[in-house]
Amino acid sequence: MSTTDGFGRSITYLRLSVTDRCDLRCFYCLPRSYRDFQTPANWLTPGEIGRIALAFAEIGVRHVRLTGGEPLVRKELGSIVEALNATDGIEEISLSTNALRLADHAESLRQRGVSRVNVSLDSLRPETFRRVTGGDLSGVLAGLGAAREAGYAPIKVNMVMMRGINDDEAEGMAEFCMENGFTLRFIETMPVGDGGRDAADHYLPLEEIRQRLDRRFGLAPAAMRGSGPARYFRVAESALVVGFITPLSQHFCDTCNRVRLSADGRLHLCLGEEEDLDLRTPLRAGVSIEQLTALIADALQRKPMRHDFNETPERILRPMSALGG
Ligand code: GTP
Ligand code: 5AD
Ligand code: SF4
Repeated sequence: MSTTDGFGRSITYLRLSVTDRCDLRCFYCLPRSYRDFQTPANWLTPGEIGRIALAFAEIGVRHVRLTGGEPLVRKELGSIVEALNATDGIEEISLSTNALRLADHAESLRQRGVSRVNVSLDSLRPETFRRVTGGDLSGVLAGLGAAREAGYAPIKVNMVMMRGINDDEAEGMAEFCMENGFTLRFIETMPVGDGGRDAADHYLPLEEIRQRLDRRFGLAPAAMRGSGPARYFRVAESALVVGFITPLSQHFCDTCNRVRLSADGRLHLCLGEEEDLDLRTPLRAGVSIEQLTALIADALQRKPMRHDFNETPERILRPMSALGG
């Protein structure tokens, strides 16, 4: 069965958060003062994730992306990947990570079925990196190197662009990605949670960066493997592809193909909506895959047309880390 939402959009992409914890504290995502973490007993087990993935595959999901918080801090991540890999209908498993722990896991996750990784990296200056994340840049660079060694391709670097913090690093990051064979995506800050709203002071519409890179290197529209909302361009006379993720300046909701599941089993139909649907309770009460599929298909009919980040930036209370972006 392939199901569409109330606006005829097919949902083929599930962003699956496996924990809301993280070993970094990017200020726009997980403020240091945040304490309202989920109870680990409520985290879906690998077995439960396998069952729920079957139901998502039934409604047409083909790609599952593992997100966090930081997915690599979840001890059962390997078993979760195995459960997804064994699920009929799931054709691709990918990972969004801060890469701090990737050096230890890149190889084994690839063997278990993860085919692609996207890595957050906002700065190549150790002091700026520490200011944004609270952590150490060298660990991330080691993780990126390990991903390359393990043969992941493409490897995408995610750079949240912040005026006055890292906006002077766009060209430098492009050169770094050129040298290392990575794809680079720039992201606009989103007003999700208190951290996201603090970051709004540094909001920068990405058209500015696109024009700057066009003048410096020359850009031509390009296609790139992936399920997300980035618009891609090839950098002239190089193998580098850059992408722009512009939820605020140019939203992409018309073509939305995704839903999200929190680590504790709540279905989120849109990043820009507070409401969610608890799937953990029926799952633990022993509902059949058919019943679970029907619950999800029914919920899809209530997926909003678009987010309201520009109109009501105060709306989303949970931090980005609770759902992994
Ligand atoms: P690909 O499959 O490689 O295209 O992955 P992706 O870009 O979907 O995944 P990633 O986890 O790297 O996300 C990059 C950024 O896009 C993050 O900041 C996400 O929050 C953002 N993003 C992804 N989907 C949506 C969406 O539906 N709405 C908004 N506003 N942002 C999104
Ligand atoms: N605005 C934009 N992007 C964010 N991310 C986390 N919080 C925000 C925010 N408030 C990004 C991370 C990561 C991706 C999964 O989501 O930097 O690259
Ligand atoms: Fe952690 Fe990623 Fe959020 Fe940074 S963006 S705090 S690395 S979950």
